[in-house]
Amino acid sequence: MCGIVGYIGYEQAAPFLLSGLEKLEYRGYDSAGICLNDGNELVVKKAKGKLAELKKLTDNGKNIFGTVGIGHTRWATHGEPSDVNAHPHLSDSCRFAVVHNGIIENYLQLKDYLSSRGVVFRSKTDTEVIAQLIEYYYKGDLIDTVIKVLSKLDGSYALGVISQENPDEIIAVRKESPLIIGLGDNENYIASDVPAILAKTRKIYRLENNEIAIIRRDTVKIINTDKEDVKKQIETVNWDIDAAEKGGYEHFMFKEIMEQPKAIRDTITPRIKDRRVVLDEISLTADQIRKYNKINILACGSAYHVGVVAKYIFEKILRKPVEADLASEFRYRDPIIDDKTLTIVISQSGETADTKEALKEAKRRGSHVISIVNVVGSAIACESDDVIYTWAGPEIAVATTKAYSTQLAVIYLMAIYFGDLMETITDYEYEMYISELEALPSKIEKILDNEESIQYLASKLFNSKDVFFIGRNIDYALSLEGSLKLKEISYIHSEAYAAGELKHGTISLIEEGTLVIALATHEELIGKIISNIEEVQARGAYVLGIASENHKEVGNVAQSAIFIPKTCDMMLPSLAVVPLQLFAYYVASLKGCDIDKPRNLAKSVTVE
Ligand code: G6P
Repeated sequence: MCGIVGYIGYEQAAPFLLSGLEKLEYRGYDSAGICLNDGNELVVKKAKGKLAELKKLTDNGKNIFGTVGIGHTRWATHGEPSDVNAHPHLSDSCRFAVVHNGIIENYLQLKDYLSSRGVVFRSKTDTEVIAQLIEYYYKGDLIDTVIKVLSKLDGSYALGVISQENPDEIIAVRKESPLIIGLGDNENYIASDVPAILAKTRKIYRLENNEIAIIRRDTVKIINTDKEDVKKQIETVNWDIDAAEKGGYEHFMFKEIMEQPKAIRDTITPRIKDRRVVLDEISLTADQIRKYNKINILACGSAYHVGVVAKYIFEKILRKPVEADLASEFRYRDPIIDDKTLTIVISQSGETADTKEALKEAKRRGSHVISIVNVVGSAIACESDDVIYTWAGPEIAVATTKAYSTQLAVIYLMAIYFGDLMETITDYEYEMYISELEALPSKIEKILDNEESIQYLASKLFNSKDVFFIGRNIDYALSLEGSLKLKEISYIHSEAYAAGELKHGTISLIEEGTLVIALATHEELIGKIISNIEEVQARGAYVLGIASENHKEVGNVAQSAIFIPKTCDMMLPSLAVVPLQLFAYYVASLKGCDIDKPRNLAKSVTVE
């Protein structure tokens, strides 16, 4: 969602602020702005729409001056996307400017309080109250003022503050919303996410909750809200800078689809030693694991879809009941969960607000939480009892691909590891699973080598108005992801259906030419899904089947078919998802959609 950048140094700040914001565009936004201290006053430029508008307004940063500045990309929550609601927000007298990620929950009370004392607000945002409060309480010491203001705020925030009073300082604060400080030579930076500063430095501090950073050109001092010094370790980011660039590809999404074999290799290889799964990250003993009577999986979006796949896998292999829960619903249904339930939280960003809150609820109720997270040091990683990182590298496209695939890979590792400890898999199965897991990346490469055939199918089918994805068992779980991928980037209406359920209502929507994508990879259920294919064809559907190469009969029934290499049932989703991703990608591309930044969507959903 929103993005923050800031610069203090001896160079002009605007070019860095604009390029830093560009690196955060992937998070999703609908307006952008920057504010610089030009030596006399705080100058703000803001524009609704894409960053290109702000660049136009500032002549690519050439008509706004100053060596200290903050910038922001806003994803509207309070108040529509507009120039005036865009950040940075100024206080009444324009002496203080603020950028903010997160939500101030009590902003209406604060706004009423200030309005009744004569403060005039310009915008409809919750953020403006912060700038106004700073001015209202300012008595000559900016740090004391910021601490006082923080004590008035309920909610989550990452803040960047500059002022006319302290022109050689940026104040940065974090509570629940991520913020990092980049350390350069005679210049320092703030950002809500690493890609924004990667071109400048790899040395960072990650602010923790309630830490305040006072950032000058050559020093960074971090204190807590009692004004005590906080000692922090400098972290070195080991991302390859190319990982956050398109590297010659037209879209990040395509690049990330292509990176899946490597991402899976990077995730599984360090965890397979001497043909045994080693999950040192899990602090539970074998005895503790055996005693759990239930597994709860919490996640949102595609990560939730991984949870649904995991439900089928864990129940089959571990013989324990598993619930896959939408994190956004979990807290509101008084869930039955306690210390006998193992919770698994899945999140690429590690910052999704609903997932984070569901995690806290599970912990409050005594459950041990293992999270599967891609972003190192993110809030969800920090709040979990154990973390298993997916080594997917930075994922920039809003529609996840390689993170989804690495999350699945971790699920397989866990299934094998737990299955062994619970003695629910035989030695033969153990060995077979390891071989299949190690073979996955090269099988995915084989599918990727054949991507033109999927491009061809997309060119035949991209005009579809409605698409239904059907499957049974693990194929149903995968159809959820296939459908989401297509609709989120191509804006074609699509739905995922358990194939047997279609005839209980939705089949009435099938008419001449309706596209049905039938996932037919699950060995035991091929006969049943073939019957479902015939049912929809009898009503005029055009069926694209996806099946294992040993089930060529699917090609005889469906009008078109894509075949994937053979693997064990558990790991089929990792292969079958690839043509679904490519199909969605090519359909969106043929429709001319903004593939990496689909409308209204955000990469990291930090509001509930
Ligand atoms: C957004 C993204 C999805 C992602 C979901 C959950 O909607 O666009 O790709 O699956 O959030 O995000 P997380 O970072 O928790 O995996």
